[in-house]
Amino acid sequence: MRPATTAILSALAEEQQGLIGLLREPQRVARAGREFWLGELHGTPVVLALSRMGKVAAATTATTLIEAFGAQRLVFTGVAGGIGPGVQVGDVVVAREFMQHDMDASPLFPRYQIPLYDRERFACDIVLGDALLAACHTGLRSLDLQAAVHHGLIASGDRFVSAAEEARLLHAALSDAGHPPLAVEMEGAAVAQVCHDYGVPFAAVRTISDRADDTAHVDFPKFVTEVASRYALAIIDEFVRSLNNSKA
Ligand code: ADE
Repeated sequence: MRPATTAILSALAEEQQGLIGLLREPQRVARAGREFWLGELHGTPVVLALSRMGKVAAATTATTLIEAFGAQRLVFTGVAGGIGPGVQVGDVVVAREFMQHDMDASPLFPRYQIPLYDRERFACDIVLGDALLAACHTGLRSLDLQAAVHHGLIASGDRFVSAAEEARLLHAALSDAGHPPLAVEMEGAAVAQVCHDYGVPFAAVRTISDRADDTAHVDFPKFVTEVASRYALAIIDEFVRSLNNSKA
C-alpha cells in the first residue's frame, strides 16, 4: 500500500529551502497563487508549502494541501514569540492545542469561542504530536543543542506582538479566561481548524524567536536567518524518518 502523503508546511522560506534540498525527485507545482513541492523524503511521499502570513493565508494553503494534493496528515514549523513564563528565545514549543487570541464574537458567543464550533481550542493529533516531540529531542541533540522543549497551548492572531506590556496583557487575559498560552504566532490556529474540518491529523512546532516584547522586531529576523531554519530542518528530517520507521 502506498504510504500516506505528508504535508510539511513552513512559515518561513528559510525553513523550506533546506527541505527542498532533501527531496527525492522534487517537482514544483503552482496552485492558488502558491508554489508546492512534491517529492519523497526518507521514502515518504511529501508535499511542501509555505503557509504565508496570517490566519486566512495559512487556511488557504492548508485547504489546498488537503483538497488538491491529498495530504493525509500535516505538520507545521515556524517561529513564535514566547509569552509563557520560562519560554525563552531558542526554546522550542510543540503545540498541544491552538486557539485564536483575536477571536471575539461577544456578546453573541463567549470571548475566544469559535462561532458554531462550540469551542475555543483545537487539539493537535496526539500520535503525531508525540512523534514531533521525540523528533525535537533527537533532532536538536544532533545539532548539539540543549534547547528546552515545551508542550502546550499556542495562541494565534493576525498581529505581530511587539511590546512587553501588550504581551503581558495578552497573557493575563488568556490566562484569566482559562487558556494560558506558551507562545504567540499568526497561523497555527487557522491550520488546526482546517485540519479539524477535514479530519486530517495535525501537529506543529515553533521555535521561539523573540519574547513578543519591545525588541521582538529586531530579534525575529536575526533569529530566523541564523537559527530557526537549522532547527526546523533537523526536526523535520528526524520526524519524517520516524514516520517511515513506524511505517505509518
Ligand atoms: N512570530 C514570531 N514572533 C512573533 C510575535 N512576537 N508575534 C506574533 N507572531 C510571531
